Amino acid sequence: MNAARSAWSPESWRRFPAQQQPDYPDGEALARAVAELGRLPPLVTSWEIEALKAQLAEASRGAAFLLQGGDCAESLADCTSPAIAAKLKILLQMSVVLVYGTRRPVIRVGRFAGQYAKPRSADFEELDGKRLPTYRGDLINRSGATLADRTADPQLLLRAYERAALTLNFIRALVDGGFADLHHPEYWDLGWVEHSPHAAEYHRLVGSIGQSLRFMETLAKQPVAELNRIDFYTSHEGLLLLYEEAQTRRVPRRPGYYDLTTHFPWIGLRTSDPEGAHVEYFRGISNPIAIKVGPGTTPDRLARLLDLLHPLDEPGRLTLVHRFGAHGIAAGLPPLLDAVRRSGKRVLWCCDPMHGNTETTPSGRKTRRFDDILAELEAAFEIHEANGSHLGGVHFELTGENVTECTGGARGLANAELERDYRSQVDPRLNYEQALEMAMRIARRMSAPPRQPTSAAP
Ligand code: PEP
Ligand code: CO
Repeated sequence: MNAARSAWSPESWRRFPAQQQPDYPDGEALARAVAELGRLPPLVTSWEIEALKAQLAEASRGAAFLLQGGDCAESLADCTSPAIAAKLKILLQMSVVLVYGTRRPVIRVGRFAGQYAKPRSADFEELDGKRLPTYRGDLINRSGATLADRTADPQLLLRAYERAALTLNFIRALVDGGFADLHHPEYWDLGWVEHSPHAAEYHRLVGSIGQSLRFMETLAKQPVAELNRIDFYTSHEGLLLLYEEAQTRRVPRRPGYYDLTTHFPWIGLRTSDPEGAHVEYFRGISNPIAIKVGPGTTPDRLARLLDLLHPLDEPGRLTLVHRFGAHGIAAGLPPLLDAVRRSGKRVLWCCDPMHGNTETTPSGRKTRRFDDILAELEAAFEIHEANGSHLGGVHFELTGENVTECTGGARGLANAELERDYRSQVDPRLNYEQALEMAMRIARRMSAPPRQPTSAAP
């Protein structure tokens, strides 16, 4: 261990090379905004964070399943009640389907209430003959095509934090008010579910959960109280380290520091260098954390990440989100499973079947094919099983709305239809029907009896 590693503090990441950080031209305005952010109350609490960690520990043992999903990038303008309610509804519906298929509790984690910063492959782009800084998410700059829009604005740190708080406030109020009550799935029906090709299967499944509930309640002679209330947790890519640091605190009666902007921050693939600033920041916080792994994550690099981020093998602490693409997973994943096995540590394995399957249509739209996403997931289940591991969660970019960003699915959305309602500023999301169908396909896969090994076990 080098000297720089010996003392962690919320700002020790500043001694390490930090990728993907914007250049703020007005340093004083930045310092004022960060100081103000540091004085605001937290978005989440340490006891919620610890409760999630305990549930993730269950998932890493195979006793629960993680469902993580939401927009690629949230936008400040989309902080509206229909958009937030639609996100909760699709996550709830998918989770009910998954509970049914997996026969396990499902942990619901949104990519929301802070998913406002995006890594970009280039710092500048050419637009209408002008060279402009790239758009890095609403936490940092604006997507318009002027230099003023693209200049990093420290006030956005505060605006995004406030929108994250508004989002979370509405989610908590809905959940507390019984919106997510399993006794009343009609509360979270999305209007046009009736017209979906999956309506019949979904209603059959929800009906059967209702029956089991009533049966349990008859046996227990009382309502199953925990089922009146379902928790949602928040997550975002912890990309802009000044934002995370400003809300990193000690809390009374618990050791360590917590990142209180979110329950479950993750490190993106582009910032996962073990010797970089992001890994340094993440190693010191007590939250459960995730890190994306994929092309470029060598077994040696992963071993180093496990040393740094998961030194104590604390249950629920580390989730590895693999994202190789349908064509890369067969070669890419097994060496990583092996590296974790050699470390002797337990992690939660989660598959992100989105980010390795992005392609560009001839007309220049970024899209993903439903069949590639599904193929990567199915391969993930099989590869884990064949290697004595198990897949404990899934990570999607999705929305509860009827957008046209990914192709395929039961309605066979074609490239030519993408223009109809393509809204994402960054990556293409599964729409409501595609997301629900994906949950059904996973549920079917997980309720099938395990495959018999093809050759005799040693
Ligand atoms: C993302 O999750 O939006 C993302 C940028 O993913 P990755 O870091 O895996 O590329
Ligand atoms: Co994305």
